[in-house]
Amino acid sequence: MAVLGIESSAHTLGIGIVENGKVLANERSMYKISNKGIIPSRVADFHASNLRKTLLSALKKSGLRMDQMSAVGYTKGPGLGACLQIAQIAAKSISQRFGMPIIPVNHAVAHIEITKNLFGLKDPLALYVSGGNSQILAAINEPYKHYHIHGETFDIGVGNMFDSFARAAKLNPAWGSTVEKAAEGGKYIRMPYTVKGMDFTFSGLLTNAVELLQRNSLVDVAYSLLETSFSMLCEATERALFLTKKREIILCGGVAQSQHLREMLKRIAKSDHVRFYAAPSEFNADNGAMIAVVAERMHKSGLKIPVSECTTDQKYKIDKTMIV
Ligand code: FE2
Repeated sequence: MAVLGIESSAHTLGIGIVENGKVLANERSMYKISNKGIIPSRVADFHASNLRKTLLSALKKSGLRMDQMSAVGYTKGPGLGACLQIAQIAAKSISQRFGMPIIPVNHAVAHIEITKNLFGLKDPLALYVSGGNSQILAAINEPYKHYHIHGETFDIGVGNMFDSFARAAKLNPAWGSTVEKAAEGGKYIRMPYTVKGMDFTFSGLLTNAVELLQRNSLVDVAYSLLETSFSMLCEATERALFLTKKREIILCGGVAQSQHLREMLKRIAKSDHVRFYAAPSEFNADNGAMIAVVAERMHKSGLKIPVSECTTDQKYKIDKTMIV
């Protein structure tokens, strides 16, 4: 039987339906971000008002009815508190109304698992890059199966760095892609490059890039920011690859939609004779199918989660989350 997944951790409301790992539907409603950024309560209102429409659209796409679902998964965290509550309340209501198990899912785990699921991978090294996160991860079995963080940002996520830079440069949302567009044809300017082992920092780089805007062209600064930050991520990932001796690298999360980062990491994988995988954009942007994939696997493993544990957690840590 199929499993429903509901995602609402940030500005995207996603509803996915999965059966035996196959994605039957992956529908979304996206809140339009203004130049002022996100006001969580307004986004939560948007999700609540679009839930019914998005759910009906997912059911129609899958050709299934609600009573044909065997479980409902939702994003427990990490994310914005007010937004997370919408998926949680929806999942609880569906679970009660249709008498099906409810399964809380870690958003970061879901970004990795959807990519593994799409390509049939067992044990890759993952570079997970989004607005709030930038981490290098691989699964370990002790003391329980979970993702170990080999390296991560010490301050801001690479996505948030691009957002802040784009706002300073008066670019329009969506910022990640507008920075990449603005960088086309640029020339390199030297910038601070901070990698400590497999960890890295982005805030000094951001401050420098914003300052450089005053006496350099946007195209050169955007290009240099992209090259520097992505090179930092690639260097740290390659070091983790040598340490873990994994044979596969995956790139996932919102920033994995960057063609430039994909190409850079693909080149590294090729030179190190390992395979490289990145999912289509639909599955790297926040989506409901990734929540359904993890929920289905947890459900099939026989895991039963009491409703009292079906909470939300804005800082739900990937390395404290058991995986199956
Ligand atoms: Fe995400």
